[in-house]
Amino acid sequence: MMSGGTAARDTVTGPKWDRQYVEAGYIFGTAPNIFLTAEAHRFAPKGRILVPGDGEGRNGVWLAEQGFAVTSVEASAIGVEKARALAAERGVHLDFVNANLDSWHWPVGTFDGIAAIFVHFEPHVRQSMHHRMLGALKPGGILLLEAFTPKHVENRKAGRRGGPPPEMLYTAELLREDFAGADIELLHEADVRLDEGTRHQGRAHVVRLVARRAA
Ligand SMILES: C[S@@+](CC[C@H](N)C(=O)[O-])C[C@H]1O[C@@H](n2cnc3c(N)ncnc32)[C@H](O)[C@@H]1O
Repeated sequence: MMSGGTAARDTVTGPKWDRQYVEAGYIFGTAPNIFLTAEAHRFAPKGRILVPGDGEGRNGVWLAEQGFAVTSVEASAIGVEKARALAAERGVHLDFVNANLDSWHWPVGTFDGIAAIFVHFEPHVRQSMHHRMLGALKPGGILLLEAFTPKHVENRKAGRRGGPPPEMLYTAELLREDFAGADIELLHEADVRLDEGTRHQGRAHVVRLVARRAA
């Protein structure tokens, strides 16, 4: 039986994002995330890639177009519907899962790579989610993660959109702790410019991580 916390969260994450994705069009655009496109060469060619919190599918679909076998997991049913439509339009196949990652039965030692792009978890589940990500990788598998940092709050005050509530923002230090069991190949915070649909536009402060599960 699920814990009370997990059950409560299960009822909110999907509907919360449904309310965003019900808007016409793709709110994060249909082009893949730039950090992902720059670093995806680290994934084993044609490998199995997990895309947790894939939203409307822009990243999962792009990875499938590159020849990867993609599992796209997303809590919002509308997000998954849009992702399926994008995949059909691009003529690629993905394994779509409409589930909450909190209660999903995470596969273990299965994936060659994970692309976690702007997937922010609440503090009480974050570390356990990150541990499950690491556990889902095969030995030697690669995790790519990009997220907003607390410095992005200043950009929001200046009118920029994007990013979760302050308690769900990530820092390099926090990710170093969460992924302490992995080999960190890249970890830095950076001021970047985003051009991702209507929600991620302009100056943003992000943390970027490349971690490898020990072989
Ligand atoms: C900011 S959006 C980013 C979407 C996508 N990764 C992208 O970059 O276009 C965050 C996404 O993560 C999903 N998400 C957050 N927590 C989740 C959870 N516990 N289970 C499944 N999906 C989750 C949300 O539903 C939402 O679609």
